[in-house]
Amino acid sequence: MKLKEEDIIKFYGGENPELFEIERRCMDRDGKVLEYLQNNLPFGKILDIGAGNGYTAEKLQHPQRQIIALEPDSKMIDPSKDLIWIKGVAQSLPFHDKIFDAIYSTWAFFFPDMGTEMIDKGVNEIERVIKPNSKIFIVDNAGDDEFSSFSEKYIGNTKQDFVYWDQKGFKKTIIQTHFKFDSVNEAQRLFGFYFGEKGKLVNKTDIEYNVAVYEKG
Ligand SMILES: C[S@@+](CC[C@H](N)C(=O)[O-])C[C@H]1O[C@@H](n2cnc3c(N)ncnc32)[C@H](O)[C@@H]1O
Repeated sequence: MKLKEEDIIKFYGGENPELFEIERRCMDRDGKVLEYLQNNLPFGKILDIGAGNGYTAEKLQHPQRQIIALEPDSKMIDPSKDLIWIKGVAQSLPFHDKIFDAIYSTWAFFFPDMGTEMIDKGVNEIERVIKPNSKIFIVDNAGDDEFSSFSEKYIGNTKQDFVYWDQKGFKKTIIQTHFKFDSVNEAQRLFGFYFGEKGKLVNKTDIEYNVAVYEKG
């Protein structure tokens, strides 16, 4: 099936894999988000929405988990990773009803600035393809941390976003983690890319970073 350009959120990782490698290696360097998912994801057939290059899915692999990595950008898909790759978008999942034992999405599609109408589409699709009462995890920036202080505009979740997920029956857990870079230069490269001039002024390798996990089921 051909995907529509307008359904795909532009992401830099396919064009600039070197920078994305820094992001993936250094954000949550201690693996606290992965640990949370590892401990709370059940076994069975699991869907990763917006899997990127499969970094998270690969780490959550287990002999009793079959992880399907859904990703719309061919440049992000890494076939060398031993995952089942499917090309597709969150708002129109290419699966039959009620087949997944759990679904998660890390920093993909369910961004607050997408607007509730778009996010509703993704949530409705999740509810359609997941087995009743099964686990859903949506992971995103939580804001209110050192990381966000580099941004001129708001990042992460306001009270309004928490209310959105709460109304959909999701509970929220905040994970306090860190960006940890190998050098200040590396921090400046990534934060300069994210935040412009202000980001280039970062002068340390360890930056506090809060992550929200919205969870249901
Ligand atoms: C910030 S990356 C996160 C990748 C991965 N989940 C991770 O944690 O490393 C966001 C990913 O969402 C993908 N994406 C863009 N539009 C999407 C859509 N409509 N539905 C699902 N994923 C989408 C992008 O191509 C990109 O790979």
